[in-house]
Amino acid sequence: IIHGDSDAASLSVANEIASLIKQKQEQGTKAVLGLATGSTPVKVYDYLVQFHKEGRLSFKNVITFNLDEYFPMEPDSIHSYVRFMNEHLFDHIDIEPHNVHIPDGNLSMDEVRKYCDDYEEKIKNVGGIDIQVLGIGRTGHIGFNEPGSTLNSKTRLIRLDRVTRLDAASDFFGEENVPKRAITMGVGTIMNARKIILMAWGEGKSSIIQQAVEGEIKESVPATFLQHHENCDFVLDEAAASSL
Ligand code: GLP
Repeated sequence: IIHGDSDAASLSVANEIASLIKQKQEQGTKAVLGLATGSTPVKVYDYLVQFHKEGRLSFKNVITFNLDEYFPMEPDSIHSYVRFMNEHLFDHIDIEPHNVHIPDGNLSMDEVRKYCDDYEEKIKNVGGIDIQVLGIGRTGHIGFNEPGSTLNSKTRLIRLDRVTRLDAASDFFGEENVPKRAITMGVGTIMNARKIILMAWGEGKSSIIQQAVEGEIKESVPATFLQHHENCDFVLDEAAASSL
């Protein structure tokens, strides 16, 4: 789905999420959202906050699972995805804090494996993810599923690709400060969502979008696995779609 610009595209995604939440409210059930960080979804979150402030949308029936977190990472660090999500969304809406799930980057090595298995269980126990929002990294990663991630991979600790760490270097004031690892939902976890919306803006994403949408399905470009999903939209601006 190609929009004229990222603002119009973000509004359409925010509207789709709001419709799901309202539909679930009418049914008296919960809406389960899979959420992403990075610059790409920020405008979607801005619109959701705006809908809430205008009194048009409540998040009381919403459960969220974030895709990933750097490891190690203190939750109150300026670089943490906990902080990112609070600043861009959770601090401004009426979501119940116990309904928010973000991978914990502050665990000991001994705790990680069980924690990741429990994260998977929690997603299953609420009936799975209704809408999973995604950005895409320059390596073709979704969440932090770097090249080499398998179709069935689950939530786990991974080693970040050099390209990803270089892309994050300016945020961390130098590549040497970027964590070498992260906890991420797996490709399999993402593929289990009933609906997936991958967003990308700008010409810098056009080459990886072309590979993800039209390229051969392969582990070296994990986003190509989305071609197997029966309900996945790529929502793009003109520039990100320019190589298709
Ligand atoms: C990070 C996140 C991804 C995100 C990617 C792209 O690697 N873990 O979930 O998709 O960045 O970031 P941006 O949206 O800033 O281009």
